[in-house]
Amino acid sequence: MSLIEAQNLTRIFRRGAEDVRALTEVSFHIEEGEFIAIVGPSGSGKSTLLQLLGGMDLPTSGSLCLAGKEVSRLSDAERTRLRRDTLGFVFQDFGLLPILTVEENISLPRTLGKASPGPPVAELLERVGLSHRRHHRPHQLSGGEMQRVAIARALVRRPRILLADEPTGNLDSTTGASILSLLEELNQNDGITLIVVTHNETLAAAAGRRLSLQDGRLQEQNS
Ligand SMILES: Nc1ncnc2c1ncn2[C@@H]1O[C@H](COP(=O)(O)OP(=O)(O)OP(=O)(O)O)[C@@H](O)[C@H]1O
Ligand SMILES: [Mg+2]
Repeated sequence: MSLIEAQNLTRIFRRGAEDVRALTEVSFHIEEGEFIAIVGPSGSGKSTLLQLLGGMDLPTSGSLCLAGKEVSRLSDAERTRLRRDTLGFVFQDFGLLPILTVEENISLPRTLGKASPGPPVAELLERVGLSHRRHHRPHQLSGGEMQRVAIARALVRRPRILLADEPTGNLDSTTGASILSLLEELNQNDGITLIVVTHNETLAAAAGRRLSLQDGRLQEQNS
């Protein structure tokens, strides 16, 4: 069984009297350790797909198995646990809390819910090259540094899967390239399965495989 198995995933949003088909019958498998780029024009369903993969939303029809569990069959509590124990998230806008220091932002997921074993914050800071910034607050950091903090925070529970939506979207190309190297290293050295939504061609080209969406449908699977 693959780490992720999507079968005929369909997501329809109701907007007033109108139905918006964000995803239509999307099927694919992702194996542990893969680096996948999700690409496609604006509005093609990329973020919708990432939300489903992250267990933050449920399909209108179709099935999604994550680490052997059929997501739609789980209770809210079970889905939250699966998300917390298996997945890490990174977003375009970093999502850091401005009143917390770098160190506090990184350890936040650990303070929510039950304490879980994971790498010490000092090790994570070292990992993303920010040991010297641990007492800083987000507004004192550059965009690239903020994204490194977000990546360190995503790693705090040792996820098997890292999901990222446009992780380089707010960064210049040099800074974006350094974030890409960090993500590649996590994939290659730590074996974390990496799934990245991106418009950045360099990032997409670094992936082992791309899932290309067009009007909510999957186009081809090979890069
Ligand atoms: N909560 C929602 N309610 C209604 N429609 C939605 C909702 N979320 C997404 N959609 C619609 O679903 C379609 C796919 O949206 P999605 O955000 O997945 O696109 P995307 O590929 O991520 O685009 P972008 O590159 O601009 O981020 C769009 O037509 C969007 O308007
Ligand atoms: Mg999007």
